[in-house]
Amino acid sequence: RRRTAILISGRGSNMAALLAAATDPAYPAEIALVLSNRADAAGLARAVEAGIPTAVVASRGFGKDRAAFEAAMEAELAAHGVELIALAGFMRVLTEGFTRRWEGRMLNIHPSLLPAFPGLDTHARALAAGVRLHGCTVHLVTPGVDEGPIVAQAAVPVLATDAEEALARRVLAEEHRLYPTALAWLASGQLRLENGRAVLNTAPQPSGES
Ligand code: GAR
Repeated sequence: RRRTAILISGRGSNMAALLAAATDPAYPAEIALVLSNRADAAGLARAVEAGIPTAVVASRGFGKDRAAFEAAMEAELAAHGVELIALAGFMRVLTEGFTRRWEGRMLNIHPSLLPAFPGLDTHARALAAGVRLHGCTVHLVTPGVDEGPIVAQAAVPVLATDAEEALARRVLAEEHRLYPTALAWLASGQLRLENGRAVLNTAPQPSGES
């Protein structure tokens, strides 16, 4: 099982979905650390409840010094023997150096069908644009924000009656299904970054079970 850190900034519902998946001993990722850049992230309590090691590296304490902030994160990741990273509502932009170091080993989930609506307020922007389909994307992280190779997507309809909250809820339910699947692909070695693209080997994997 590949030792994986989940990086959060808030609620942690995607984190909870990954933790739940990883309770299965056959799941290829083991959650070795939940790291938050905010001490008040609600997800931290859920991780503690689940018996997962947690760490806070308060980005606020580092001001504009992103390199020092990331060095402090790297120290926590190293201390916990982390091999893979899953960003789950982690709201800090990472430097090119950090993303290069974790290239091919770091996933992010984004609440839109990329390349539509990168950045923030995706559900309000989808409603304003009048799209009929919206959804979520898991991608490998590269230096350009929300620009990394797409691994998996799930689409939901946008209904005429939708307010932002209803649409967000419909997308979030898909996030919770999609992210555990995508992390399993990365942790099992089925998903790899090759020439800047996400390549998924869907051939049946050898298994110990009949
Ligand atoms: C999720 O919808 C996630 O896709 C989004 O923040 C939410 C976090 O919720 N991520 C981003 O916008 C990344 N820029 P959660 O803390 O309950 O998982």
